[in-house]
Amino acid sequence: METPRIIIAIDGFSSCGKSTMAKDLARRIGYTYIDSGAMYRAVTLYCLQNGIITGDSVDTRRLEAEINDLHITFAADAESGKQCTYLNGVCVEQAIRSMEVSRHVSTVSKLSFVRTALVDAQRRIGQEKGIVMDGRDIGTTVFPDAELKIFVTASARTRAQRRADEMKAAGTPVNIDEIEQNIAQRDHNDLTREISPLRKADDAIELDNSHMSIDEQNEWLLARYRETIDRIATSKA
Ligand code: DC
Repeated sequence: METPRIIIAIDGFSSCGKSTMAKDLARRIGYTYIDSGAMYRAVTLYCLQNGIITGDSVDTRRLEAEINDLHITFAADAESGKQCTYLNGVCVEQAIRSMEVSRHVSTVSKLSFVRTALVDAQRRIGQEKGIVMDGRDIGTTVFPDAELKIFVTASARTRAQRRADEMKAAGTPVNIDEIEQNIAQRDHNDLTREISPLRKADDAIELDNSHMSIDEQNEWLLARYRETIDRIATSKA
């Protein structure tokens, strides 16, 4: 029997290693990896670049009028081979990880028309299955019927350290206290948002990876994937 292609939803708090494990699994099983947070970040970058965000306020009327003209796509960078987020054809992978984008992304991602547009785009990407998507509401809202759902947690300090390491590796100067504060603020915003707040789906498997190595968490996820495929095969037999 052919191996079924499924949807794998990985949700959880910011900077807790979701994308590292999601990318690794996608590569090993030949699936497409989609970083839904990058899509919210790309919309935020667009707002910053085009004067839609000034100070702490968003010109929601303008953003609503322009949101359908934003094309966010993912493709491998020709030089590095690494997956890149493209905003209207321009690679914005590094720009969307800046502290400035991180500071404003919660405000943009709580707007209902932004969520509707991005959830629609995410569902279109998932139509053919064979995807690993990470985010906050993938198992609860975007793909409530996903065959495998994971909910990842880790302590705020561990997460700040990981984000700091990532930024340092990319050559960006870092202030770990500022990063930790931003993470705590985004946790609060994600949990208390009116539309699609961050919460564990009833049928998601929880993983606290505070004390796990990257290899350990990757192996753990691969094992959950294999179990899911076996379960589907048994139920069809
Ligand atoms: O995963 P990340 O930290 O790059 O996500 C950036 C922001 O986008 C995060 O603060 C919350 C928001 N987000 C969301 O609201 N829904 C998603 N599915 C993914 C991210």
